[in-house]
Amino acid sequence: MDSMLPGLQTMYPTESEIPEAYRFGPEVAQTEYLVNGQLRYWPGPYQRVVSPIFVRTADGSTPKVLGSYPLLTEREALESLVAAVTAYDDGRGTWPTMSVEERIQRVEQFTQLMVEQRSTVVKTLMWEIGKSAADSEKEFDRTVQYIRDTIDALKELDRASSRFTIEEGIIGQIRRAPLGVVLCMGPYNYPLNETFTTLIPALIMGNTVVFKPPRLGVLLHRPLLEAFRTAFPAGVVNTVYGEGARVIGPIMSSGEVHALAFIGSSAVANHIRRLHPKLNRLRCVLGLEAKNPAIVLRSANLETAVRECVLGSLSYNGQRCTALKIFFVHSQVVEQFTRMLSEAVARLHFGMPWEKGVFLTPLPDVSRVQYLQGLVEDATLLGAVIANEHGGTTAGTLFYPAILSNVTPEMRVHKEEQFGPVLPVVSYDVIETPLRYIVESDFGQQVSIFGENADEVAHLIDPLVNQVCRVNLNAQCQRGPDTFPFTGRKDSAESTLSVSDALRAFSIRSVVSTKATPPNKELLKTIVREHKSSFLATDYIL
Ligand code: G3H
Repeated sequence: MDSMLPGLQTMYPTESEIPEAYRFGPEVAQTEYLVNGQLRYWPGPYQRVVSPIFVRTADGSTPKVLGSYPLLTEREALESLVAAVTAYDDGRGTWPTMSVEERIQRVEQFTQLMVEQRSTVVKTLMWEIGKSAADSEKEFDRTVQYIRDTIDALKELDRASSRFTIEEGIIGQIRRAPLGVVLCMGPYNYPLNETFTTLIPALIMGNTVVFKPPRLGVLLHRPLLEAFRTAFPAGVVNTVYGEGARVIGPIMSSGEVHALAFIGSSAVANHIRRLHPKLNRLRCVLGLEAKNPAIVLRSANLETAVRECVLGSLSYNGQRCTALKIFFVHSQVVEQFTRMLSEAVARLHFGMPWEKGVFLTPLPDVSRVQYLQGLVEDATLLGAVIANEHGGTTAGTLFYPAILSNVTPEMRVHKEEQFGPVLPVVSYDVIETPLRYIVESDFGQQVSIFGENADEVAHLIDPLVNQVCRVNLNAQCQRGPDTFPFTGRKDSAESTLSVSDALRAFSIRSVVSTKATPPNKELLKTIVREHKSSFLATDYIL
């Protein structure tokens, strides 16, 4: 590491040093957007896309240019919305009235086409956001698995709903029905996975969708446009690109969106939702910010704690909403913990995303590096100490992780969600210190407790499950497995996502019922026997 860091700039490769399999090119000039079943040509203007990965030339290092995508206007945004509204057709469209089995077949077809694009999507993902090749592959495969699990969960749900309930002389069939038009917006850190964990459940439940990829992470979706176009009826999936304020504003102000699926900051989520003229008609499924703490008790196995804290705070450079973002360590073990943490960080491979075993990679843009530098500067001015060698060293989009010890509440990093490789360590004497922190925090996603004393750990579990939505014992915070509920309190989330919860989030229960008289029973029987309705049906999907 020592030899590498002084010349951080030299970590960037020259074009010829990039292994052939990972080279990006030619540039992707995306000139189309998907609307109403057509890949419509956009004459410009375009947004230039540059990579967080710089390429070294004789004149210095510059970001690799990846291509460009359309900067659409209010007009095209509304066109996309109208296409989704028309395809939904007040619930009478082909898609919302299609049988669950047929919708599943369309999603299966899409998945098959998506898998054919794996290598292109993975490579673009890696170059667009600087995620390691291994993690980019993982993101793709996890997404495909998520879709397959969603299909299975829907079959299960459908089987449970394929029966009549008879209560108090009333016969009813209860199923989940779509909400209408869904606006889906994903984050840059998981531009494929987190977008699809709302997009796919929304679609498969019969909603129609307008989908805006995050500002960083657009081009990777391009190879999938044709798959969307082929697999789904016209207008069921539509895309918009461009400045959020310009394209999202008119869509939300129209009042035609029934559900907002948004992963990002609470400030942006609140701004977007307030644009809707009838707030009670808008369902929000939001994954927002977090500042998950690790509490390292005196009884902790420090080896386990350090291993999990490294994974929890530095996987994808700490750019996960679930990342561990502050460490409360008992004063009797804080010195040893910080030393072991520094040693563990020094062993991590810092480099380009394609390098074998790489763990730390470039951040998405230079402004992120400047922001983190600002946090470190603020903390050190107020008495924090950079505990690891080279901590906070930067060059371009490269930021070497900074472990900050002696962190106190006056420092910005104590409260702000850094979303990057800065690891603040707070020493505590009484457990009330981290507990108070969690109670007073604006966030309430998860916590990790490290300790081996059952009394001590149990004493923390009961108050903490009422403050956050997942308490991890001797393990980092994380979203997966995707069958587990993923949500948060306060400014961390609204609604719950998991494979099965997402199906519920994007649907509402609707009932067909009648008094159990002989003519009504006959009516139901005829409809079911002759397959006259998709909703009122007792067929099982196997
Ligand atoms: O950014 C938030 C992601 O949902 C985190 O997912 O914990 O599986 O990395 P993960």
